[in-house]
Amino acid sequence: MSIKSLGYIGINSTDLDQWRHYGCQVLGLEDVSAARNADENHVYFKMDDHPFRIFAQKSDSDGLALCGWETNNQQGFDQALANLRNAGIDVEIADSAQTKARCVQGLARFTDPSGNHHELYWGVVSDFARLVSPVGVRKFVTGNMGMGHIVLPAVNFEATVELFRDVLGFGLSDLMNIKFTPDPNEPNKRLWFMHCNHRHHSLAFFEMPHPAGCIHVMTEVENIDEVGRGNDRRIAHGVQLSGTLGRHANDHMVSFYMKSPAGFDFEYGAEGRTVDDWSSYEVFESTVASFWGHDFSVGQTG
Ligand SMILES: [Fe+2]
Repeated sequence: MSIKSLGYIGINSTDLDQWRHYGCQVLGLEDVSAARNADENHVYFKMDDHPFRIFAQKSDSDGLALCGWETNNQQGFDQALANLRNAGIDVEIADSAQTKARCVQGLARFTDPSGNHHELYWGVVSDFARLVSPVGVRKFVTGNMGMGHIVLPAVNFEATVELFRDVLGFGLSDLMNIKFTPDPNEPNKRLWFMHCNHRHHSLAFFEMPHPAGCIHVMTEVENIDEVGRGNDRRIAHGVQLSGTLGRHANDHMVSFYMKSPAGFDFEYGAEGRTVDDWSSYEVFESTVASFWGHDFSVGQTG
C-alpha cells in the first residue's frame, strides 16, 4: 500500500489562543509558528522531527479540518491518486503555495463518502530539529508509525471503509459493535479499526455523526509516567476529563481521554501495541473497549 502513516492533522479554531495554550501546556507540544513565520491565522505544533504534526487555522467554527496521510515517495503518491480517481473520487492537486505551507513536495486532497476531508502528500521538508517541549515531554512515539491515530465519524459507513480498505490499502485490525443505552431497539453502531503500519490502528471509523467532525485523536508518549504527567497538566489547566485512565482491549494503550478546544477528545496514552507481521494477525471483535478503566461516563457531565 502507498499510505504509510497519519502524518498530521489540521484543526479549525475560532480562538487560536486557546490552541496555543492547550497544545503547549496540556499536550506538551512545541509551538513553532514564529520559527516558521506563520501568519496570524495559523498555529503550528511540533511533536518530533517533522516540521509540524498538528496545526490550527482560524475559522468561524471549531472542529477537525483534515487528516494528512503520508506516502513514502512520489510513486506511492501517484499510485494513491490513481487508485482514488479509478474509484471515482475527486482529487484536487494543491497549488505550490499550499504545498509549501505543508512542507512537502507534493500535496493532494479529497473528501471521503462520509464527508471527512483528507490530504495526501510525499516528501516532508525537515531540518530535523528536535522537539523542545515547553513542559518537558521528552518524546512522542511517532516515526514510521506516524503521529498517532484518529477516529472519524462515518455515517456512510460501508462506502467509507471500502475506500480506505479496498482503494487505499488499509487493513482491518479489529471491530466493535456498540450500543449506548440498554434499549434493545437501539441499533448497534459499527466501530472499525484500521492499520497502515505497525501501529495497531492509525484510523478508525465510527458509524455515527459528530458535530466536531472527529471522535478523538490519540497521541502516544514514552511511558505511563508521561501519561500521568499529562493528566496532572490536564487537572492544573482545568481541562475536563472525558474518560478515566484505562487499558484498551484492542491496542493495549494505557490512556486517559480529555476534552479539547476543537470539540473532540484527545487520548493521551502509552504502551500501544504494535504488530510486526499483519499476515499472521487474527482480526477480532471486542465486546468491551478496555481490560480495565476508561469510564466514559465522566465526560457526560458538565
Ligand atoms: Fe483511541
